[in-house]
Amino acid sequence: MTELKIYNTPVHVAREFADLFYTLFKQYQDEDKLMHVALSGGSTPKLFFKLLVERFKDIIDWNIIHFYWGDERMVPSTDAESNYGEAIRFLFDKISIPKSNIHPIRFTNQPKDEIKHYAELLAKNLDMSNGNPVFDLVILGMGDDGHTASIFPNQMELFHSDAVCELAYHPETGQPRITLTGRVINNAKNVVFLITGEKKAAVLRSVFNQDESSKNYPATYVQPTSDQLFFFVDSEAAQNIF
Ligand code: 6PG
Repeated sequence: MTELKIYNTPVHVAREFADLFYTLFKQYQDEDKLMHVALSGGSTPKLFFKLLVERFKDIIDWNIIHFYWGDERMVPSTDAESNYGEAIRFLFDKISIPKSNIHPIRFTNQPKDEIKHYAELLAKNLDMSNGNPVFDLVILGMGDDGHTASIFPNQMELFHSDAVCELAYHPETGQPRITLTGRVINNAKNVVFLITGEKKAAVLRSVFNQDESSKNYPATYVQPTSDQLFFFVDSEAAQNIF
């Protein structure tokens, strides 16, 4: 079931997704299970982190949540470009969570070594199904070129790779990045897109409606076998969707 949730503003999107995150957390707490979450990068998650902290900082038991990343730029965590660094500044520094629950994709000049390390970490920490790690929740953004995680339209083969993680390069800057592949994203129990802003409207319409041009966009191929796919979008991004 693909569920589309449209809210007036990015703050409303972030608030509603924070509430869904809490609902998911309660399920895992009630079942006495750990919850393994892959975060996305970019600017959209900042609002989600802010609302999550505001609403649930002292309510969520962060001990049962483990955080990972769907993709990471090969820069130090102190770099403004770092997805891990963003999560430290906007989330981890504001909640009580064991450092051992945070599993960044590590910055290295040998990304192929980290690709191997991260795949081994996921295999160790997560349940596996059909040979791939199973995240409880994968949070994704989408670029206005239809990329998701760090899988760009000119590197579509990374989405369909047999590997768990791959080395990607930003098509304009050439920045090296490590990204989860489509087989891991589509193996998750729940996948949520957070998409806001007018710039995303044309591609979101295409991806959501799976029209002819959608085949050019990596986001189109996010189709979790669990069928639990949610689009949390604002009215600007959704303006052309129907
Ligand atoms: C990254 C992301 C990427 C991001 C989109 C949307 O590391 O950049 O994971 O896929 O989600 O580019 O970014 P915005 O939220 O900034 O629009």
